[in-house]
Amino acid sequence: MVAHVTTVSFQGVEALPVDVQVQLTGGQPNFTIVGLPDKTVAESRERIRSALLASGLSLPSKRIVVNLAPADLPKEGSHYDLPIALGILAAIGALPGEQLAGFVALGELALDGTIAEVAGVLPAAMAANEMDRGLICPVGCGSEAAWASPDLDIVAGRSLIQLANHFKGTQIISRPEPKIREMTGALPDLRDVKGQETAKRALEIAAAGGHHLLFIGPPGSGKSMLASRLPSILPPLTPRELLEVSIISSIAGQLADGKLTDRRPFREPHHSASMAALVGGGLRAKPGEISLAHNGVLFLDELPEFNPQVLDSLRQPLETGSVVIARANHRVQYPARIQLVAAMNPCKCGMAGSPGHVCRRGRACVDDYQARVSGPFLDRIDLRVEVGAVTAADLILPPPSEGSQEVASRVARARNLQAKRFEAMGIDTIATNAQSTAAMIDEMAAPDASGSKLLRDAAETLRLSARGYHRVLKVARTLADLDGETKVGRIHLAEALSYRMPGENRMLASI
Ligand SMILES: Nc1ncnc2c1ncn2[C@@H]1O[C@H](COP(=O)(O)OP(=O)(O)OP(=O)(O)O)[C@@H](O)[C@H]1O
Ligand SMILES: [Mg+2]
Repeated sequence: MVAHVTTVSFQGVEALPVDVQVQLTGGQPNFTIVGLPDKTVAESRERIRSALLASGLSLPSKRIVVNLAPADLPKEGSHYDLPIALGILAAIGALPGEQLAGFVALGELALDGTIAEVAGVLPAAMAANEMDRGLICPVGCGSEAAWASPDLDIVAGRSLIQLANHFKGTQIISRPEPKIREMTGALPDLRDVKGQETAKRALEIAAAGGHHLLFIGPPGSGKSMLASRLPSILPPLTPRELLEVSIISSIAGQLADGKLTDRRPFREPHHSASMAALVGGGLRAKPGEISLAHNGVLFLDELPEFNPQVLDSLRQPLETGSVVIARANHRVQYPARIQLVAAMNPCKCGMAGSPGHVCRRGRACVDDYQARVSGPFLDRIDLRVEVGAVTAADLILPPPSEGSQEVASRVARARNLQAKRFEAMGIDTIATNAQSTAAMIDEMAAPDASGSKLLRDAAETLRLSARGYHRVLKVARTLADLDGETKVGRIHLAEALSYRMPGENRMLASI
C-alpha cells in the first residue's frame, strides 16, 4: 500500500503541489527518497529517523521508498521532513491516512521530534486554501498561515507527538490567530533636515507619485539623511500590497514570528552587493533586494560605487516590475515593483561644482566617476536633484515648522486622487502615476496648449528619449495631483522638466 501526503514546492512566489508517496515493502531494510531531491531533502532521512525515535517510534525495518511527485520538478528545502514523516506514520498505521488527505503539510524536523519553522508558510497556506485543504505547519508559523484565509483549517504543531495526538483526537491543537507586528520607535522625521528645500520638495513628489529619485551632492550635505526619511512620508501598505510583500518575506524566511507589518519595505543594500543579492538567485534562487523592496523603496546609497554590471542588471526589472531568474533546470519569477532612490557624489573627491573648489584631477575626476552609472540607467530616474552643501547659517536656524506628518498628509491626498482616477479608468493593478503605461499617461496628463509647446521645445533642446518624455509627463501629473488640479498645466511641466535637466547631457554637476 502507498500512503500519500501533500506538500508544496516553491517556484518563485508560487507554491506548486507535490505528492509525497511512501511505500513500505519487504526486503533489505533501506530508506530511499527519489523525485529530484536536493542535498537538504536527501539529508531529511537522518532527521526523520531520529525524530521518530525521539517520539517513541522507530523506522520500520522494511524497504522504505519515498517518491516526491511530479518526479521532474526539483525539490529544495527542509520543509519536506514533516510530510515525509507523516507519510511514514500513515504507512505504518500510526496516523489515519484519510485524515491527512485533507491537508497540505510542511515543516522541518529536529532530532528530538519537534517541528522547526520553515520559509514559505504563507504562500503554502494560500495554495492549500485554493486546493480546499487544511494546512499542517510548525507552531511558530501558525499565525503567518492564518493570514491566508479565516476559513483555513490550520494545525500548527509543536512536535510529531502533538500532531499524532491531535489526529487521534486525544489533544486538540487550537487554530492560531493572525498577528500584526507592532512597529515600535518612530521613523526618522523630515524636521531634522535643515534647509535643502528643493530636495525636500523632490522627496515629497517622489513619495506622492512613486517616482525614482536621485540626489547628487557633496559629502555631508544630507543626501543619506533625506533618503532615510522617505518611509516617514509614504502611505501604509494597502491590504493587497501587504499580502504581496508578506509572501516574498515569507519565501525569503524573513517574517519574524509569523507577524506581518503594514510599513512599506525600505531596503538599503551596501554597495558591495553582488548581482545575486540584488536581483535574486544563488543556490536556491531566493528573492533579491529588489524583490524584498517590492511595493516599497530600494535605496542605493553611493550609487557609482556599485558594480556597473550589477546596476545595469536592474534596468529590466525597473521597467517591467518583475525579475526573472533563469536557471539550468527551471526559471523563477519574482515581483519587483519598486521605487528607486539613489544618492551619489558628483565625483570621486565629492566636491565638483562646489564654489571655490578646484580638483587636482580636473574633469577626469567627474567623468570617470559618473561613467560608472550608465546612460540608460540614468534615463530611468525621473527626479534628479542637486543637493548643495548646507551652510552654518542654515544649521543654526531653529528646526523647520513642517515635519513628516504634514508632508505625509499631502502625499496621502495626492495618492488618493491617483487611486480614484485609476479606479474610474477600471484599472486595479496600478496605484501610482509612475507605474502607469505610456498610453495611460497620454490620456491622464494631456497638457494644455502652452504646456504642449513648452514640452515640445524642451524635448527637442534636451533631446529627451521617448521614455524621458513620458516620465516628464508622469511627474507633471503628480505635481498637478499635489496641487489638486485635474489638468496638467505649463507650470507643472516646467517644474517636472527642471528635475529632468541634471544628467540629460550625461553630466550630473558642472565644474
Ligand atoms: N541639512 C541638514 N540638516 C541637519 N543636519 C545635516 C544636514 N545635512 C547633513 N547633516 C548632518 O550631517 C550628517 C551627514 O549627513 P549625510 O550622511 O546625510 O550626508 P551625505 O550627503 O549622505 O554625505 P556622503 O556623500 O558623504 O554620503 C548627518 O548625520 C547630519 O548630522
Ligand atoms: Mg551618504
